[in-house]
Amino acid sequence: MKFFIDTADLAEIREAVDMGLIDGVTTNPSLVAKTGRKYRDVIEEICGLVDGPISAEVLSIDYEGMMKEARVWAKVHANVVVKLPLTLDGLKATRACTQAGIKTNVTLCFSANQALLAAKAGATFISPFVGRLDDISDDGMQLIEDIVNIYNNYHFDTEVLVASVRHPIHVHQAALLGADVCTIPFKVIAQLAKHPLTDAGLAKFVEDAKKIPQ
Ligand code: E4P
Repeated sequence: MKFFIDTADLAEIREAVDMGLIDGVTTNPSLVAKTGRKYRDVIEEICGLVDGPISAEVLSIDYEGMMKEARVWAKVHANVVVKLPLTLDGLKATRACTQAGIKTNVTLCFSANQALLAAKAGATFISPFVGRLDDISDDGMQLIEDIVNIYNNYHFDTEVLVASVRHPIHVHQAALLGADVCTIPFKVIAQLAKHPLTDAGLAKFVEDAKKIPQ
């Protein structure tokens, strides 16, 4: 499973890259707004840090506007993937981008039927939001299982990108289900490495090492 980092914070990206864990980056308007910087500047800088798919979202919600933005994003860097919303206009833009050789990440997916439409439109990635489904007492990981099965049934090339990840169990389940990608906030990446027995074991080794004659 590929690990993307779900952030627009360059310091977090640098740290995760140094850990050797990052295959790509996802951003969205909410994450970029937190930086106080221009979206294009942030994406250009991320492209200099990570050699992998970098998702940049369109801000328009109509087909023409999305296509205009998609063409601009595609020229920023070869690794930029255009993030489009799962609406009828977004699907139309997905089809047009695919035909123009522009990679796409269809976002705000909350049902298997939506994922089926994105695959039929030729999306490079589909982003089902597991955490937001869990938030409303639905089952986010059940959606991942359904999409993985449906895509396998029909041999779609669209990659399943698990998004809206809230905790390590989401990552564990995504890997068990065979998702292609999991996009993970920095905080959760750090949590993945933590185990109380690792900490206790290390503390004991450090203590015992002091008893070894020098
Ligand atoms: C990633 O592509 C999504 O925009 C992101 O994972 C959404 O996460 P959230 O539900 O925590 O905002």
